[in-house]
Amino acid sequence: METVVSGIRSTGNLHLGNYYGAIQNFIKMQHEYNCYFFIADLHSLTTHPTPANLHNNVKQVLVEYLAAGIDPEKATIYVQSDVPEVAELYLYLNMNAYLGELERSTSFKDKVRAQPDNVNAGLLTYPVLMAADIIIHKATKVPVGKDQEQHLEMARTFGNRFNRLYNNDYFPEPYAFTYGSNLVKIPGLDGKGKMGKSEGEGNAVYLSDTPEVIRKKVMRAVTDSGPTVENQEKPQEIQNLFDLMKVVSTEDTYKHFDNLYNTMQVRYGDLKKQLAEDMVNATAPIRERINDIAGDSVYLSRVASLGAEKARESAGRTIREVREIIGFRKF
Ligand code: TYM
Repeated sequence: METVVSGIRSTGNLHLGNYYGAIQNFIKMQHEYNCYFFIADLHSLTTHPTPANLHNNVKQVLVEYLAAGIDPEKATIYVQSDVPEVAELYLYLNMNAYLGELERSTSFKDKVRAQPDNVNAGLLTYPVLMAADIIIHKATKVPVGKDQEQHLEMARTFGNRFNRLYNNDYFPEPYAFTYGSNLVKIPGLDGKGKMGKSEGEGNAVYLSDTPEVIRKKVMRAVTDSGPTVENQEKPQEIQNLFDLMKVVSTEDTYKHFDNLYNTMQVRYGDLKKQLAEDMVNATAPIRERINDIAGDSVYLSRVASLGAEKARESAGRTIREVREIIGFRKF
């Protein structure tokens, strides 16, 4: 059976981008593949969280994984830092990851622009740690959103380079995976780019947002003054709202508003009201489970330790073989 690995950074609550870009695929894949889904807390250290924030954020992602429907009996759910073998493989892969290629990564360039005062080595080698996460379980499929495509290409590069260096066809190639035909990019509500935590207040709708908060955020979404010609191309901020509608609303609803837009009869107030209600309904079952699960610390601790045990079994096997391949041998 093919192996699947994916993770989400522990930087707090999950948003609709995480859900439709990644988690929705996790939930389906757990029935078909040997799945490892983890909480990337080592990756979150690039932003220097306090110990209390770090812990709370890891817990939040764990709770939301479970609330969204990842089943710890089917998939292995674990916290990245519980599996030190990942850090060891990261070290080995770093020896053959080159400054030039790391500097060229789009996400690195974005981070340098966003946080020029904190361009640490962890940010630079972020894709190497991600490659270690994936190939430590010899995964071939990685359910992720569109923004992670380049990281997957780098993971293949690092795995292949290891294989070539040691002349051993050891690591298989991992590819980004989605059930649809294209990797997903969920837009935010700010009229610009993708939904994301660091894209500013009000841009992201969280799985844990109350219906009131969701309505408020959607009603504040950026719009223009309306179409001026029939069937005109939609400007970015309007296209974004339609793209969101495509994932949370029914096809009929989408077509209804698309038709109103094309005939210049659309009222953005109505469109947003509908979009907000559909978001409220789409997230309701998850939201309802979040509080119950968060209160059950015995269950959370059981899930995390079972996951760590299973993940270490697989990662430990790889590390033993990798050490042998590299030439760390007993006297
Ligand atoms: P992160 O935490 O930024 O995002 C987690 C997942 O959510 C997806 N995603 C989106 N998809 C569509 N539209 C959006 N607006 C959107 N925002 C986020 C991301 O594509 C991702 O799938 N580096 C990773 C975490 C990671 C990882 C890994 C993933 C670490 N190691 C190994 C896979 C395999 C990250 O920062 O994702």
